[in-house]
Amino acid sequence: MKRLILPVAILCVGFIYTSCGGGGSTEAPKEEKKVQMNMGSDPAPSAEAPSADVGDPMTNLGIGPVKSIELAAIDQGMVAEGKKLFEEYCTACHKVDKKFIGPSPAGIMERRTPEWVMNMILNPEEMIQKDPLAKQVMMESNMAVMANQNMTEDQARKILEYFRTL
Ligand code: HEC
Repeated sequence: MKRLILPVAILCVGFIYTSCGGGGSTEAPKEEKKVQMNMGSDPAPSAEAPSADVGDPMTNLGIGPVKSIELAAIDQGMVAEGKKLFEEYCTACHKVDKKFIGPSPAGIMERRTPEWVMNMILNPEEMIQKDPLAKQVMMESNMAVMANQNMTEDQARKILEYFRTL
């Protein structure tokens, strides 16, 4: 008997806003289904972090292999190589002139630190999981996920150089 009391009590808690019929054992499975549906459709307050704790993007270096970059004058040779790499590996999801699957990289250097951009290119999985800014960008992109293109740090650096010209 004791074994029955606990599940029934849980069901009652689930229906606290309606009423607890204290249904017999034959109704229990039906009620359980309803409880699950209610939980799914309830706005869960803790599920989505408020955008307020994203912090200042221009102090966020992201998470990944790149800890610090010194930017010198723009190197046009690197820009040309970066543009080629971008066109080959990134334009499936990014367009320079408009938002596509992911954001346009135009003006990105005014919105993000160079370290963050490179870590996003090199380590997108962890960035999306742990970095509040990357998470927010993902939500703004209808939960589309930035794919790891297995770039080397050198390739990512050239793409960054290209981004500096956009
Ligand atoms: C399969 C689609 C896809 C490919 C391929 C892709 N990305 Fe992304 N990228 C995204 C999406 C979607 C986002 C939005 C954030 C998220 O979901 O991670 C994003 C976000 C980014 C961001 C952050 C933009 C911002 O405004 O904060 C950068 C930088 C970026 N991508 C660079 C690249 C580069 C460079 C490449 C090529 C090496 C590339 N991406 C390839 C889908 C892609």
